[in-house]
Amino acid sequence: MLLPVIMSGGSGSRLWPLSRTLSPKQFLPLTSEQTMLQETVKRLDGLEHHDPVVICNEAHRFIVAEQLRQQNCSGSEVILEPAGRNTAPAIALAALQAQKSNQDPVLLVLAADHVITQPEAFRIAVKKALPLAEDGYLVTFGIVPDKPETGYGYIRQGSVIGEDSYQVSAFVEKPDSETARQYLASGDYSWNSGMFLFKASRYIEELKKHSPDILAACEKAIAKTQEDMDFIRIDAQAFLACPDDSIDYAVMEKTDRAAIVPMDAGWSDVGSWTSLWEVLEKDDSDNATKGDVELLDVKGSYIDARSKLVAAVGVSDLVVVETEDAILVADKSRDQDIKKIVERLKKDD
Ligand code: GDD
Ligand code: MG
Repeated sequence: MLLPVIMSGGSGSRLWPLSRTLSPKQFLPLTSEQTMLQETVKRLDGLEHHDPVVICNEAHRFIVAEQLRQQNCSGSEVILEPAGRNTAPAIALAALQAQKSNQDPVLLVLAADHVITQPEAFRIAVKKALPLAEDGYLVTFGIVPDKPETGYGYIRQGSVIGEDSYQVSAFVEKPDSETARQYLASGDYSWNSGMFLFKASRYIEELKKHSPDILAACEKAIAKTQEDMDFIRIDAQAFLACPDDSIDYAVMEKTDRAAIVPMDAGWSDVGSWTSLWEVLEKDDSDNATKGDVELLDVKGSYIDARSKLVAAVGVSDLVVVETEDAILVADKSRDQDIKKIVERLKKDD
């Protein structure tokens, strides 16, 4: 049976001021009444699976436990990191923990902060990928790209393995914009969705081959765990010594055992306000709004009012987000730079 592993340690700083250190975007309801973490759990309905393992920062343990409880995940384990070391170590902890009970499950690695508007298409892709993972492949899910986005991994499709599944002939994480443009124009590349399917043992073998330092630190960290209700506390000292790297650089760019299954499921990594605006329903003037909002001659904007009435007149392509203690006004094309403001604010603290 599948073991979903939900990576939930990101900070989501480009979605400031809603996303905050103590409550990053994966724990917020952004596209529906449920939070992004809960949506991630919900879309597993219809797949045969164990209750998911969640890996998060220890500061978020009660938020995670409460949100899982609301989804009836009584069997979930929550692995707590003293600080994030990126996704390669986070997944290693989950794989090693799963093997502790002499099991070698297929892990369905998911991000807690993705939007998928067609969950059935997601489940079909996972079912297609399952025999490949059982066969020892590290399976990626490929998204048809529509712009030269530099925040994603790019995957070149190689030879056919089976129906709708291919070898990966190249994996390039976050290329520069010129390279991304070439990849898009060539038509040979898909975006990496950031979700993966593989056996725990296969991931560990690949990590051993390509990033042995990460594996060694994680083995140490998971050897000495303290169980505290459903929380698994790892050895902090060992984990803090682990190199910081993502699965994409540490394993996927280097392995020759990767496969790709295309996925057309209305996927989006809502990494920024503009990408959230893109997936939400819009009015006749292309505005997406939330809360108490009054607009006159406003176009193509995202206006989000959480505690007060927000009125806007004669503006276009703006992001306006109002919260109790901070208001953001940004040009939609500059929304990647919100991170810089957040960094500046942290320095000022
Ligand atoms: N537990 C834990 N610890 N989770 C983490 C950590 C960590 O240190 N760092 C990140 N995560 C979680 C995030 O919360 C998110 O759910 C997921 O892991 C992916 O991390 P991101 O930081 O959002 O990665 P990315 O978006 O830059 O890149 C990845 O996703 C893209 C698609 O969205 C890569 O896999 C790209 O190749 C891919 O295209
Ligand atoms: Mg992301």
